Amino acid sequence: MSTPDSAPDGRPAPTITGIGAALPGRLVTNAALVERLDTSDEWIVRRTGIRERRHLSDGESLSDLAATACAQALEDAGLPAAEVDHVICATITPDRLTPGIAPATAAKIGSLSAGVVDINAACAGFLYGLNQAAALIESGRATNVLVCGAEALSRITDHSDRGTAVLFGDGAGAVVVSPGAREPSIGTFVFGYDATLEETLYAERDTPLLRMAGQQVYRHAVARMTEATELLLERNNVGASEIDYFVAHQANARIVSAVAEALGVPSERVSFNVEWTANTSAASIPLALAAAERDGLLHPGALVGMVAFGAGFVWAAGLARWKDNQT
Ligand code: ACO
Repeated sequence: MSTPDSAPDGRPAPTITGIGAALPGRLVTNAALVERLDTSDEWIVRRTGIRERRHLSDGESLSDLAATACAQALEDAGLPAAEVDHVICATITPDRLTPGIAPATAAKIGSLSAGVVDINAACAGFLYGLNQAAALIESGRATNVLVCGAEALSRITDHSDRGTAVLFGDGAGAVVVSPGAREPSIGTFVFGYDATLEETLYAERDTPLLRMAGQQVYRHAVARMTEATELLLERNNVGASEIDYFVAHQANARIVSAVAEALGVPSERVSFNVEWTANTSAASIPLALAAAERDGLLHPGALVGMVAFGAGFVWAAGLARWKDNQT
């Protein structure tokens, strides 16, 4: 990666140094959904690629899940919690309307003097957080930043609607971003939005259940994620063939396949973690990265392409070199 927008020599180069992931214990298989909805395992797998998802149980908090992912990421990075300067949590499903989950998450892991903030950018939230972490480090305003994507979509899902109930799951993933040896290792991002299409995917405050025009969302997701990734590659002066691993927001395996195919990224370099998590919005990218590392698909210095699209519509794309240490 080399780009005119990269941090000039001498500035700290932000690098991912640790990763963690957490899924709730409550497994919801397609077979469990078939018991109460007019659907089938065959339809869900064929139309979405999803086989199972996890849901938080009553009484479990999203900040607990986020804290588990963050603690794992710190352990992976070998970084004491007290040295974290900022905890950025991307979520659209905080435990309460206010406060967000970042204060409780930071307190639970012991980052007691960190700045704490939630970001609401729907499925693109994790990439917004990663960009902000990189900027804080490049500017010298922070040294260690935790970026967490955490979501309890089961709490805003209409479980009686077969068109959406099968699609969503809960989970949390986190990365530590710190100055590293590679220069630069987190490239220039691409961001975009289209507020004219807000009615296509939303949840009202009064009846907080996700409503979605599935086919429209599908078409825009494929087009915008493809365009954003093409622009990302151009801005960072990188070819699609140089991407070692590609994570498109894990909404639907068909969306991911269509984007990867349009870009020319071979399927063996593409994450299909949606099979085991369903769509976890802001958590989907870090969960997919953690699964890829666990499965031996990421090597030190691997070039990782990431792109996300969701409610707003809001989208984002980013590139990062993978961390040196392996879990
Ligand atoms: N089981 C069986 N049949 C179903 C189900 C189900 N769970 N859900 C819908 N159907 C039926 C519909 O009722 C319809 O029946 P009809 O033809 O008799 O009217 C038929 O299947 C086809 O419905 P479509 O909506 O046309 O199905 P499609 O192939 O478009 O798949 C889906 C629907 C999976 C929702 C797809 O449009 C999609 O994935 N869209 C993107 C949605 C998304 O990912 N949103 C998440 C937030 S945004 C993001 O994260 C990118």
